Amino acid sequence: MSHKADRLKVLKFVKDFLLASRLLQLLQPFNRFFGFVYNFNNLTSWVHKHKKEKLLTNDFYRPFRHYDDRLKSFSAIATEYKLGEIPVCYLEFGVASGGSFKWWMNTCANPASRFYGFDTFEGLPESWGVFDKGDMTSAIPELNDNRGLFVKGIFQDTLNGFLQEYGPALKDKKKLIHMDADLFSATLFALSQLYPYLQKGDIIMFDEFNVYGHEFLAFKYFTECFYVDLKLISAQNNFYHAAFEVM
Ligand SMILES: C[S@@+](CC[C@H](N)C(=O)[O-])C[C@H]1O[C@@H](n2cnc3c(N)ncnc32)[C@H](O)[C@@H]1O
Repeated sequence: MSHKADRLKVLKFVKDFLLASRLLQLLQPFNRFFGFVYNFNNLTSWVHKHKKEKLLTNDFYRPFRHYDDRLKSFSAIATEYKLGEIPVCYLEFGVASGGSFKWWMNTCANPASRFYGFDTFEGLPESWGVFDKGDMTSAIPELNDNRGLFVKGIFQDTLNGFLQEYGPALKDKKKLIHMDADLFSATLFALSQLYPYLQKGDIIMFDEFNVYGHEFLAFKYFTECFYVDLKLISAQNNFYHAAFEVM
């Protein structure tokens, strides 16, 4: 006990000294680099822990990605969980022109299935990598299917109200949640809000999972802070796309 107390005393002294002296600010120009190394190493450790798992799809390692190969993962998930037959509730965060939204709507054919798509439709609310704020602006897609609904606005403004109205009904069906907003902030916010509605067997797909400072970081914080157990079920394009089942 006294050993622990001594260690704590030293730690507190060193931390307070660093705070007061600003010594570590000498390294401030390297902040981004250190952040990159830390986050990328976390991603690398995670991928290498899971790379050999037998999944519905897993193409790690391949030298070149083909974005459209995400459809192989979508198809494998739809087949495995019979999503074309059972009633599902599909929630997509980041719709843009509706490519993936329409794919899932066409695939999940049960008339009782429901589809909700969330997007600003005015593009990214903040920059992401080479993309600037406002990039990916799209008109709200046209749907010839009355099972679908789009909610326009940033998730931070719209999701809470949506969940108050539709939340209880979300528990009646298997949920298929598609995180495709690219951003750390948007992904973590949406997952945190959805947390009370998650049920065993729900599926969460990430479209840009292996982006170390965005979707991966949101996944890491979400699973660690909410103690949510997510089982990896599919990976495509070197974990760029990854899907999980809620345990
Ligand atoms: C990559 S696109 C979605 C692509 C689409 N799912 C597909 O596969 O065709 C990302 C979208 O996320 C949206 N987005 C990002 N952060 C958001 C936020 N906080 N609130 C609302 N929409 C957001 C952007 O407007 C953008 O249209």
